[in-house]
Amino acid sequence: MKQKPRYAVFGNPVAHSKSPQIHQKFAEQENVEIEYERIFAEIGGFDEAARAFFAAGGLGANVTVPFKLDAYRFVDEHSDRALAAGAVNTIIPLGGGRFRGDNSDGVGLVNDIIHAQGVEVAGKNVLLIGAGGAVRGVIPVLLEKNPASIVIANRTDEKAREAAERFGIESLPLAELPAAHFDIVINGTSGGLSGEIPAVAPEVFAQCSLAYDMVYGKDAEPFLQFARSSGAAKTADGLGMLVGQAAFSYSLWRGFEPDIKPVFEYMKSL
Ligand code: ATR
Repeated sequence: MKQKPRYAVFGNPVAHSKSPQIHQKFAEQENVEIEYERIFAEIGGFDEAARAFFAAGGLGANVTVPFKLDAYRFVDEHSDRALAAGAVNTIIPLGGGRFRGDNSDGVGLVNDIIHAQGVEVAGKNVLLIGAGGAVRGVIPVLLEKNPASIVIANRTDEKAREAAERFGIESLPLAELPAAHFDIVINGTSGGLSGEIPAVAPEVFAQCSLAYDMVYGKDAEPFLQFARSSGAAKTADGLGMLVGQAAFSYSLWRGFEPDIKPVFEYMKSL
């Protein structure tokens, strides 16, 4: 029997990953059968696990926390997006033991904001909160959409300053953010995972047309509730970004562009 095309997501932890369900839905749309598994790798063991997977015929991989930098080093060539972000979440085998790395997080986020939420980025003042891999990964694609400005702010200010310098944007301490200035406020911190929200003054949301949290479900709620009660006109969690980044990865591997909306609705209903 012919082997199904094999894909996987590598992470630590990885048991919670929803990627297998999402990619199976895309495969249904394409009318093909695929295998998509979760692979747990030990810290420091990413390269070995990835090589074993591809040696066994794997056709593509997603990479999640904490291996996006390992994946960046693992691949032989990088897309412009991955280069700019300095992180890889999608690996495409090129044959002959060579690999290309891409980053679909920014595409997932920006598509969700513009197409699903119906909020333009062009000409807008955007605030990014956080300066870890998640935030750095999306800055290059946000910049392509010509916002009026992007400001980055982080609990540890030094990291925001470093990121700002790298991407040619502005940084400000969390406590010094201007009131009623930002149109789009994006929380890219991992604070929500422990129920914490970044120390931002409520006035920061006074002109906010969209407050977005890159995590989804109950982890996003504390920040989104705070944003709503501080005046944000609209809020969204990161489920659309998750489905969108998966769709872009799928298209990179298979040349088939999945329809995001029905899969988003399905994932929301679970
Ligand atoms: P990721 O790859 O998910 O971005 P990371 O690189 O560990 O993970 O970055 C986590 C981000 O969330 C950082 O910006 C971190 O702030 P610090 O640089 O000050 O550590 C931010 N973060 C985590 N917990 C937070 C909290 N309780 N309040 C505010 N920011 C928090």
